[in-house]
Amino acid sequence: MNPDPATTFTLEDLESWSRPGVSLAVLGHPIRHSISPAMHNAALAVMAETEPAYATWRYFRFEVPPEELPRALGLLHAKGFLGVNLTVPHKILAVSQVALVDPAARPVGAVNTLRRRADGWEGFNTDGYGLAAGLREDLGIELTGAHVILLGAGGAARGAAVECLSRRCASLHIANRTRENLDGLLALLAPLAGGVRVTGFDPARPPADLPEGAVLINATSAGLKATDPLPIDLAALSALRAVYDMIYNPAETALLSAVRACGLPAANGLSMLVHQGARALEIWSGAAVPVATMALRRPGCGKTARSGAVPPSTRTGSCASNSAVPFQLIVIPVHSSNSAKDS
Ligand SMILES: NC(=O)c1ccc[n+]([C@@H]2O[C@H](COP(=O)([O-])OP(=O)(O)OC[C@H]3O[C@@H](n4cnc5c(N)ncnc54)[C@H](OP(=O)(O)O)[C@@H]3O)[C@@H](O)[C@H]2O)c1
Repeated sequence: MNPDPATTFTLEDLESWSRPGVSLAVLGHPIRHSISPAMHNAALAVMAETEPAYATWRYFRFEVPPEELPRALGLLHAKGFLGVNLTVPHKILAVSQVALVDPAARPVGAVNTLRRRADGWEGFNTDGYGLAAGLREDLGIELTGAHVILLGAGGAARGAAVECLSRRCASLHIANRTRENLDGLLALLAPLAGGVRVTGFDPARPPADLPEGAVLINATSAGLKATDPLPIDLAALSALRAVYDMIYNPAETALLSAVRACGLPAANGLSMLVHQGARALEIWSGAAVPVATMALRRPGCGKTARSGAVPPSTRTGSCASNSAVPFQLIVIPVHSSNSAKDS
């Protein structure tokens, strides 16, 4: 069996899986448009140049509905898979289905990376790390000491909020459309806050006492569709330092366009995606991962953002109009073993 990583596989394919070599997988529903196989296989190809053992490693995507997650995880283990990534809607569901949860992932209550152990899977969450690394890389912002306004109370917001608190942000202010979901997140965060001020508010009515110079992080799904409303009215907020939108496809959301029109630094979620993926591959391989090889671009763009050709605040600008075209991958050969530290 020689499966093509560009294919979207199903549980039926997994039943008859017999590939030699090390297999990795991402599970989601839907998953067909996931760019994780392209990212990971590009990094593995570069890693194999210096360590031939990686030549047999391949990363595949599987369409798995939530009710089939237990069967999928059992089959992946039985078939010898080394690692699994989880995306919507599996991250929270999987916590109760793994043998062990990494202590750092427990407060988040969600896992996006599973590593094989003899008795099942060990769950990790690399999303918060990816966000922190993306903020640093694209905007030069450290969460430690930063005032943060976070939009959303779903899984991504939960990971972001826990990361902000564990890195001792200066204050955290969370807005969400549905009050009940906001209150649930605030209750989860209360024991983690330490001395950090954490508040919640209705995005339609931002309070007047929000701190000036905060970084705004969009962790809502508003912006995935061109018809979506802005998740917040920027004019109703005090002066911001910068904006990070976790959405990366489309590369330029209405929020990012509005922010750039104000002349503020802004970035989309591609760097978060890349860094959470690199961290997952480090967990599976125990080796430094050449993050730059995971860089992605859209057709028609001259160079990748990581080439330095595009300033961070405009890295999505000239390519944003091509939002209907799927991402393509450019491999930037990186031979330095410490390239994973480029974030
Ligand atoms: N870059 C990355 O690596 C990365 C990683 C993870 C997630 N993400 C992105 O982060 C976003 C959220 O993902 P998730 O997993 O947290 O999803 P989720 O658990 O379904 O949560 C969705 C959140 O978005 C809010 N929302 C949805 N539609 C909205 C609208 N029209 N206006 C205002 N708020 C709206 C929801 O508010 P209610 O509570 O009111 O429903 C909720 O807070 C997605 O766009 C996802 O692609 C990116």
